[in-house]
Amino acid sequence: MKKQYVTMTINGREYRFSIGTGYGEVPPSETLSETLRKRLQLTGSKESCSEGACGCCTVLMDNRGVTSCMLLTCECDGKNIVTIEGLEDPVTGLDPLQQAFIDEYAFQCGYCTPGIIMAAKSLLISNPHPTEEEIKEAMSGNYCRCISQYTVLRAINRVAGNGEDHTAVMHRANDDVVDPIPVRQELFPSPFANGFDNGNTLD
Ligand code: FES
Ligand code: FES
Repeated sequence: MKKQYVTMTINGREYRFSIGTGYGEVPPSETLSETLRKRLQLTGSKESCSEGACGCCTVLMDNRGVTSCMLLTCECDGKNIVTIEGLEDPVTGLDPLQQAFIDEYAFQCGYCTPGIIMAAKSLLISNPHPTEEEIKEAMSGNYCRCISQYTVLRAINRVAGNGEDHTAVMHRANDDVVDPIPVRQELFPSPFANGFDNGNTLD
């Protein structure tokens, strides 16, 4: 039987994979996410749902964001793949999106962040100046369990060149909180409230 190969450019380097079930070969059932993460140790993009729902595994394929858990490597012949590891320009440094995410602190645990940045990059390639509504629409397939969406939106708006000072909007929103929810000390007693001895005993 004739050997089958797929050739891909990944982060600027050309790779040739032999498709098959022998040692070192890429099985026909192997996903692009598995090839990137397990075979090439490009572990920046994450796998979470493994069914195309969360966007954590998003990479660029021919400049379009794709969920790499939903693609078979054997079907990616001739494609140009860019992962979060390949986004930084070797000459000019971090991509403006990466810098904006740092500046806006647009993440918490960071698990979703590579996928979110690559989805945002895909949007900005096709539409360098999206409106906020267009950004929300484009990012609707990426979930963040840490609820970093507000800061993510600020970071993408910043790179999109949208004029609104979103930081100011956030501060105004916080200033409007007249009666913040009090912390229920009886539910969350702090051992440090009155020094170490707060009257609680362990008997
Ligand atoms: S892991 Fe691919 S979309 Fe969730
Ligand atoms: S920053 Fe934790 S899941 Fe998004």
